[in-house]
Amino acid sequence: MCGIVGYIGKQQAGPVILEGLRRLEYRGYDSAGICILADDAFQLRKRKGKIDEGLARLLQAQPLEGALGIGHTRWATHGPPSDENSHPHLDQRGRIVLVHNGVIENFDTLKNQLLADGHTFKSATDTEVLAHLVGVHYDRLEAQTQHAHPLTRSELPLLTQAVMEALREVVGTYGIAVLCVNQPGIMVGARRGSPLIVGVGDGENFLASDAAAIVAHTQKVVYLNDLDVVTLTIDDLKLDRLDDATARYEISALEFKPEAVELGTFPHYMLKEIYEQPRALENAIRGRLDLEEVTAKFGGLNMTNAELRGVERIVISACGTSWHAALTGEYLIEEFAHIPVEVEYASEFRYRNPPIDHGTLVLVISQSGETADTLAGLRESRRRGHKVLAIVNVVGSTIARESDGGIYLHAGPEIGVASTKAFTAQVSVLALLALLMGRIRMLSANRGRQFIQALQALPQQMSQALALNDQVKRIALKYQNAEDFFFLGRQYNFPVALEGALKLKEISYIHAEGYPAAEMKHGPIAMIDDQTPTVFVIPNGAMFDKTCSNLEEIKARKGPIIALTTEDKAADLARKAEDVIALPETLEPLFPLLAVVPLQLLAYHIAVARGCDVDKPRNLAKSVTVE
Ligand code: M6R
Repeated sequence: MCGIVGYIGKQQAGPVILEGLRRLEYRGYDSAGICILADDAFQLRKRKGKIDEGLARLLQAQPLEGALGIGHTRWATHGPPSDENSHPHLDQRGRIVLVHNGVIENFDTLKNQLLADGHTFKSATDTEVLAHLVGVHYDRLEAQTQHAHPLTRSELPLLTQAVMEALREVVGTYGIAVLCVNQPGIMVGARRGSPLIVGVGDGENFLASDAAAIVAHTQKVVYLNDLDVVTLTIDDLKLDRLDDATARYEISALEFKPEAVELGTFPHYMLKEIYEQPRALENAIRGRLDLEEVTAKFGGLNMTNAELRGVERIVISACGTSWHAALTGEYLIEEFAHIPVEVEYASEFRYRNPPIDHGTLVLVISQSGETADTLAGLRESRRRGHKVLAIVNVVGSTIARESDGGIYLHAGPEIGVASTKAFTAQVSVLALLALLMGRIRMLSANRGRQFIQALQALPQQMSQALALNDQVKRIALKYQNAEDFFFLGRQYNFPVALEGALKLKEISYIHAEGYPAAEMKHGPIAMIDDQTPTVFVIPNGAMFDKTCSNLEEIKARKGPIIALTTEDKAADLARKAEDVIALPETLEPLFPLLAVVPLQLLAYHIAVARGCDVDKPRNLAKSVTVE
């Protein structure tokens, strides 16, 4: 939530920052702003609304000049979207400017103190309070320094000192970038709980919430840790700490190229990412199959087979789509490895006190690796001394770095707010984990081999599923005006039904619910009428006949039915359903990986038909870094 970009170098900072903000717009699009520091003065431009509708137009009318600046794209927390509440924010004297991602929890207390001291505020944000606080410390330090003996003066720039002093008073989370009129050669960044990276260039340096903003300029990054404070000049990076830990950093190479964040010929990132799924799936399983031992292998688990053998229970914690992947993982691991699995909403898990004993392995799943609730659950589990593994997409993200071991998805950057390729990559990785856990227990080599073959066939089958796009689009246009939708499935097809409902509601704003098909008769079936379509995920397999009975129950109440099934059952279902989408046959546990493709396409085409902004749905942001 919220994206930050900072630039210090020799180029014009305005266009660099604006382009970076466009790359980060998926993190929030309530407003955007840029401040450039040149000739001892700030040039501040900020506007409510999406970048192209607000800030970009403003910049055409009032261009910026200068090679040092910071920018921000906002997902509103404190104060509604407005020009005044847009970042950057200035301090009382207009000497400090700051952008912020996070929440200053004690901002009320701090603001009251500042008000009592005569400060006035232009916005309702917590961020402006932090800007004022940095200003207060800057003024104080400046006065002290003028009278201090040269030998007792700190080597740190005044701005860095002021930022550190201010942050010591703050309770909450932040990723910030700060400039000071009196220090035109430096930019200061700091983080606690919100992501911030440094891009290391040649005669230029960057700050950004994530790598997508700067990958066009440099492949070298430093992933900052919580409580790091960084001071950047055009050719130097100095790291300090807000605690007593030793400040150290290492420069890492980005694992993706600038093209990975380009839209290419696709109209939306979501569609691009749906189409990237066969490749994402290949990448998720590449190098992780051991055909000789008929098992899976992971480089970064940091657990021996003997330790894995000792796992008696698994608790998986995640949010949103990652939670749906986790639920699919529960079915997979319980069936293949006979280990009890519990799936928790991270937002609940973090405040519960679930019994976790020595035999329990905690697993967290997150595309971004920055989701605040998931991160908090991870930290709490580790604090109690439990081992936590993470399944993460974004390399170098906080969850990836703070877990004891884990598995990267290698799905490439996911920009669309609606998660698509991350889901299929997460489920594939969980399928591999189930295989590994199964093979060190009771899964036979024959079944393991069958599973591997089915997994290897999936990328090609997924391409076949994508080829159904035109049919799915026709169905989407037929139902685009529906007010309610149901998505039903049983067993392995229940989590993917939930995912289908989430995709539709988040990008089209149609009320949609996912249920285990047999649960309908316990209440929700009261909603069914001839205007309420139901999507059944109903492949051939053990649950086919049972699910067919549930389908008849909907049909008897005149509910229009869209059946997602396997090719061998398409003819049967054509007699019962208004529309049948026939997918290639695979093993039952892997069918969700194919079924999710038409579900994503259905949501996509309905949202486009309704004129919704698919990549930037209202009220949402990609990376949820607040509670
Ligand atoms: O980055 P994470 O996987 O931790 O994100 C979790 C959810 O916020 C995310 O899946 C969200 O539900 C998506 N908008 C779903 O499409």
